[in-house]
Amino acid sequence: MRLILLGAPGAGKGTQANFIKEKYNIPQISTGDMLRAAIKEGTEMGLAAKKVMDAGQLVSDDIIIGLVKDRLKAADCANGYLFDGFPRTTAQADAMKDAGVAIDYVLEIAVPDDQIVERMSGRRSHPASGRVYHVKFNPPKVEGKDDVTGEDLVQRDDDKEETVKKRLDVYHNQTEVLLGYYGEWAKSGQPGAPKYRKIEGVGPVEEIRERAFAALSS
Ligand code: AP5
Ligand code: ZN
Repeated sequence: MRLILLGAPGAGKGTQANFIKEKYNIPQISTGDMLRAAIKEGTEMGLAAKKVMDAGQLVSDDIIIGLVKDRLKAADCANGYLFDGFPRTTAQADAMKDAGVAIDYVLEIAVPDDQIVERMSGRRSHPASGRVYHVKFNPPKVEGKDDVTGEDLVQRDDDKEETVKKRLDVYHNQTEVLLGYYGEWAKSGQPGAPKYRKIEGVGPVEEIRERAFAALSS
């Protein structure tokens, strides 16, 4: 299974990615998680990316495309992969097409903007695993601790209300165009065209998981 999860910031890409990667035994390639790991390591690229991310803007296409192409060389991608938060621009999508990176499904998770700020303000994450929680909608078993490792959960620096609003603007201006990009490609029936599936992302996390699984087997 080779798929792309598309959706606004906070649509639940990371949450659903955790279910999908288990089911299909494929790695989650989250460019956001990769950038946050680089920030934590204190690399030069990480430090430069942090400024851009804290402003709610996109990191340059060259850096992102380089990161993903490198990641795809790893042995664990042989069985498939799940892109989360990538591609985010037409240039990134074109780069994958040009490199012949195969995609079976594009899954859009649709959530209206007015639900997003509340989701972000309550988000807590476990950076080492990519697991995501919400204080109200998807709470961990023990407050502030990851269910599996018991390690501390953290709040993301870019989850402040003003930054979330900026990220939503950037999504509408630069990323939303990919809904049409992949939708049209899917309809074209060209060899290698992916299937395009859209699910509603509002409702209990487990219900959305079932919608996602159904969409990916249709
Ligand atoms: P990235 O990390 O990709 O963030 P994002 O796309 O903005 O998405 P989020 O991770 O915020 O949301 P999500 O859809 O994963 O939702 P989640 O499951 O966590 O990118 C961060 C930054 O890195 C970008 O702004 C950019 O600067 C840079 N970057 C990354 N990739 C890039 C690229 N390709 N090109 C350029 N720059 C790039 O859920 C959110 C919350 O809601 C959680 O608390 C969760 O528990 C809760 N929740 C989930 N599902 C539900 C539900 N059904 N009901 C209620 N609450 C729910
Ligand atoms: Zn995410």
